Amino acid sequence: MSPFQSSQGAPHAAILGIGAYRPSRVIPNADIVAAIDSSDEWIQQRSGIKQRRWATPEETVQLMSVEASRKALAHAGLDARQIDCVVVATVSHMLQTPAIATAIAHELGTEQAAAFDISAACAGFCHAVSMASDFVRAGSARHVLVIGVERLSDITDVGDRGTAFIFADGAGAAVVGPSETPGIGPVVWGSDGEQYDLIRQREDWRDVVASKDPVMPHLTMQGNPVFRWASFAMAKIGQQALDRAGVSIDDLDVFVPHQANMRIIDAMARSMKLPERVRIARDIAEQGNTSAASIPLALDRMIAEGEARSGDTALLIAFGAGLAYAAQVVTVP
Ligand code: UT7
Repeated sequence: MSPFQSSQGAPHAAILGIGAYRPSRVIPNADIVAAIDSSDEWIQQRSGIKQRRWATPEETVQLMSVEASRKALAHAGLDARQIDCVVVATVSHMLQTPAIATAIAHELGTEQAAAFDISAACAGFCHAVSMASDFVRAGSARHVLVIGVERLSDITDVGDRGTAFIFADGAGAAVVGPSETPGIGPVVWGSDGEQYDLIRQREDWRDVVASKDPVMPHLTMQGNPVFRWASFAMAKIGQQALDRAGVSIDDLDVFVPHQANMRIIDAMARSMKLPERVRIARDIAEQGNTSAASIPLALDRMIAEGEARSGDTALLIAFGAGLAYAAQVVTVP
């Protein structure tokens, strides 16, 4: 017999509320094409992006996170004091330490909730939802606040043809808590470190400091190999997430893939043979690619516009730098 006990949590976990924050600066393609010798037509054809949102200096990672979280808490009908863990998925909080999560937890008014950041790039939100679900079911936490937040405009080179038109800013939040029935299905996740260099921060900070002419390290992406990988490999991961949750494609109502490129979204929907009636998130057209924030932002828009209804079955699938990916079926709150 062991001399101590392990924790026990709720039978199931679910997303209880969703919230989003879209920064105030709307940047149409016309405003960025000159610096990259591109055109509105090319950007729309290749990526589906018409405009993106970039944050003002005041719209910090913390501010956007707090605003999105307050909306998620209101949607869930919970008070910040009921949150006992905050997980922030981001790659654009500019301090190596401490995690921005502790400042967010404090500003929200949690009672010293556990708080930490995770780094899984565009797949961060789905990683964090999976962790939150496990925490709730294992009894490590009762209500977990999951935040996906980015200010990619800080680390995007506006003169880089391969990335300047894609990346954007925003925050999305979800409250994960106990449920009588399954609301978050088993995660299917993984990584392919052989493709580590395809999307990455260009320079190591030590090289920046050693340089005679230091520049901010920016994101760099070999877009086409990532495009091919995402279009073909990710549909299989989505199918596995459906299979592991025991959900047939005919029972699916909503598809919320990472908003990386409209052509990737269409390719995945075709490969998975999604029925016509499944509503598909297409937030990228107005919002750009916001990495860890893209899935909660897209789901929030679908809920607001009546495309996703409470109780709907949704498939989330996220992928990006690492390369890292994660997918799960969830019930729309
Ligand atoms: O969020 C994390 C995960 N990220 C992704 O999933 C992004 C995946 N990748 C993509 O979305 C796409 O690769 C891009 C939208 C970035 C690029 O589209 P593509 O169809 O892969 O274009 P490409 O890089 O193969 O370039 C095609 C052509 C080239 O010209 P040639 O060689 O065919 O004459 C490029 O020089 O388009 C040219 N090009 C551009 N033209 C105008 C490349 N960038 C631009 C540009 N404007 N910005």
